[in-house]
Amino acid sequence: MPPITTSLLVVALAPLIACGDNIKRFDDPDAGIDGPVDAEVDPYPWQIPPGLPTPLVPADNPMNVDKVELGRRLFYDTRMSGNQTFSCASCHHQELAFTDGMATPIGSTGQAHPRNSMSLTNVAYLGRYTWGNPLLAELETQAVGPMFGTEPVELGLRNLDAVFLARVEAEPIYPPLFASAFPGDPSPISIMNVVRALSAFQRTLLSGNSPYDKYLQGDVTAVSASALRGRDLFNSEKCECFHCHGGFNFQDVNHYVGKPFVEARFHNTGLYNLNGTGDYPAPNRGIYELTLMPADMGKFRAPTLRNIAVTAPYFHDGSAATLDDVLDHYAAAGRTISSGPNAGVGSANPYKDTLIIGFTLSAQERADLLAFFDSLTDDVFLTDPRFSDPWH
Ligand code: HEC
Ligand code: HEC
Repeated sequence: MPPITTSLLVVALAPLIACGDNIKRFDDPDAGIDGPVDAEVDPYPWQIPPGLPTPLVPADNPMNVDKVELGRRLFYDTRMSGNQTFSCASCHHQELAFTDGMATPIGSTGQAHPRNSMSLTNVAYLGRYTWGNPLLAELETQAVGPMFGTEPVELGLRNLDAVFLARVEAEPIYPPLFASAFPGDPSPISIMNVVRALSAFQRTLLSGNSPYDKYLQGDVTAVSASALRGRDLFNSEKCECFHCHGGFNFQDVNHYVGKPFVEARFHNTGLYNLNGTGDYPAPNRGIYELTLMPADMGKFRAPTLRNIAVTAPYFHDGSAATLDDVLDHYAAAGRTISSGPNAGVGSANPYKDTLIIGFTLSAQERADLLAFFDSLTDDVFLTDPRFSDPWH
């Protein structure tokens, strides 16, 4: 048997992973909180926070309660790594909105990952996954990466799928749970079903109970006047933030069916400009890493700003320690690094998005923007027992 590599698995999974017409879709991700909600009714008892739409579900991976419970068990299970030291939760901690507080993580075998662990807040609403991959359009495909990937090793399951499945089978909780999660499947304990269960669990990680959400729902006392001034700055033509962090999830628009390069959006925000060439440091050069097109240098996805106050450090490489540093970067229309291997004037990056224009903030305006960010923290989400470690 040939070694199972990530790409082989993706190819193997491709026909089984829904794409295109069989996906239920939130049709207008640009819509505000009162926007249209997917009319199709799913029998799964979603507990969707008020104002959020029904998540997309691939036709071949329908939601059910046992599948979500199975996915949660797997997410928190160190059997998920080759040496049984790591689980998904090792890099995705609930109380940090499923980030890990590190600039960049270390995988199960000690290898450094070049990218910052991402929040899993509302991942159900994304059209593209990870910081910069125009092709990664499904949670099902994404999960294969940390399990089997080798550049770098995260969970380190490559070539160990039989060993891993035997381990899973030996845990008394699992066989009946796989059977009820995948009714009608004669051999439900499979890599593909592990991936499906993980994805079903992740689709339930919905966050929409922040003070700002409560304000939108009519509780005018839920947020401070300062936060509301910050919201107005965020949405102003002075700061331009809303263009890339807009809609109900404060993230880039992500339609996805059939036109990955057209409909996904990625931006160079002027974080680096090595030697004035526009380059970002490898291997963090954005979608350029995949397309090798010069214009794609430094282009990354604009992530959700929900729960942003608890997900420091920031950016694809964790290179901004605080939200103050993030604001300094945007105010300067790009970051200047004066010495060291990454020195350069980011604001002069030739590939920079035209919306990164710079602005001046008074101390009060800065405090207002930070208060707005704080108002996006959803404590219900960060402490919801449904998302916590089921093994302890
Ligand atoms: C070693 C740490 C580590 C482990 C273990 C890990 N992740 Fe991640 N996760 C990351 C990093 C780093 C990224 C960003 C990757 C990138 O952009 O290339 C990420 C990104 C993601 C994303 C994309 C989120 C988004 O907004 O696009 C999802 C979903 C995800 N991980 C789920 C999982 C699941 C499921 C597992 C277990 C099977 C897992 N992760 C294991 C570090 C980790
Ligand atoms: C042109 C699109 C664009 C605009 C305008 C924009 N952003 Fe971003 N934002 C991005 C992208 C892309 C990233 C990821 C950049 C990276 O890591 O290389 C990002 C990252 C961030 C992050 C870090 C997210 C994380 O999880 O680490 C914060 C916070 C943020 N932006 C806030 C803002 C604020 C505040 C404004 C307005 C002052 C703003 N953005 C304007 C595209 C944009």
